[in-house]
Amino acid sequence: MYTTHAHITTWVIAIILFFIALALYKGGNAKGAKIVHMITRLFYILIIVTGAFLFFKFQKANPALYGIKLLDGLLIIGMLEMILVKVKKGKGTGLFWILFIIFFIAALYLGFVKLPATI
Ligand code: HEM
Repeated sequence: MYTTHAHITTWVIAIILFFIALALYKGGNAKGAKIVHMITRLFYILIIVTGAFLFFKFQKANPALYGIKLLDGLLIIGMLEMILVKVKKGKGTGLFWILFIIFFIAALYLGFVKLPATI
């Protein structure tokens, strides 16, 4: 389904950009990191737009579970952003990585296994 493809594409690209920004921050390339971080943020918006579209289209099938998927998606974005900001400031990121992995696995499970809309 078209929007699902768009949604998957946006979060896959966002996560790739996230790792590039992370590597640049860690490598001390502050300027490069800042640019890639900004583009990553643009992709957060695209994830939310495509996710919201799917949400409004399909949520009647199971509003509670779709609500959890929506919240989970927003939490993932929150964790990605927290990790980048903490790395930029040279602070610890351990807790945010753990939460990111938990929320990410939950999103894959909900999106691909539990919720009805399929590719
Ligand atoms: C980085 C963050 C996110 C990840 C990794 C993610 C992951 C996924 C995955 C794996 C699917 C299943 C695609 C499929 O059914 O083929 C999906 C579907 C969906 N996502 Fe996200 N998502 C994210 C953010 C969001 C956000 C922010 C929203 C809401 C604003 C959202 C709402 C939805 C909805 C409504 C579906 C359709 C579920 C279904 O019926 O299968 N997602 N997402």
